[in-house]
Amino acid sequence: MERTLILIKPDGVARGLVGQIVARIEAKGYAIDALDLRSATAAELAAHYAEHEGKPFYQPLVDFMSEGPIVSIIASGQGVIPGFRSLAGATDPTAAAPGTIRGDLGRDWGEKVQKNLVHGSDSTESAEREIGIWYPAEG
Ligand code: GTP
Ligand code: MG
Repeated sequence: MERTLILIKPDGVARGLVGQIVARIEAKGYAIDALDLRSATAAELAAHYAEHEGKPFYQPLVDFMSEGPIVSIIASGQGVIPGFRSLAGATDPTAAAPGTIRGDLGRDWGEKVQKNLVHGSDSTESAEREIGIWYPAEG
């Protein structure tokens, strides 16, 4: 079964939006196969964001992701990889369409990094790679 790695980033946890975000994933019909709340290690973040190393937003992004606990989720279902990206909405919460997680629940907070509540894998290869980072036993 197709699966994806979802993160509820520190802004989503701090703002008390975990229940609403999980409810949207479930309401769409995807299964929650694993769910865990904890702070990320520096090694996990370096591995997760390796593709962005060297970009101007890399360090602000890693700092932001280290601000507090994260919820990591493995979700599954036919089409879940693009389906969750569609639920999440555009990367920039200001541009994200109403009806999406980022469009309904996110905004510009005037900071260097886009605090956009969630992450979702963008391909089958990314999903399997990221599941291996956050859930080594499931990789
Ligand atoms: P993720 O699901 O978090 O991976 O978001 P994404 O796939 O929509 O975006 P991408 O992987 O390109 O970037 C990862 C994260 O870096 C984003 O979620 C943003 O928080 C941040 N980011 C990406 N592009 C920019 C940018 O141009 N400027 C700033 N400030 N942050 C960015
Ligand atoms: Mg991405």
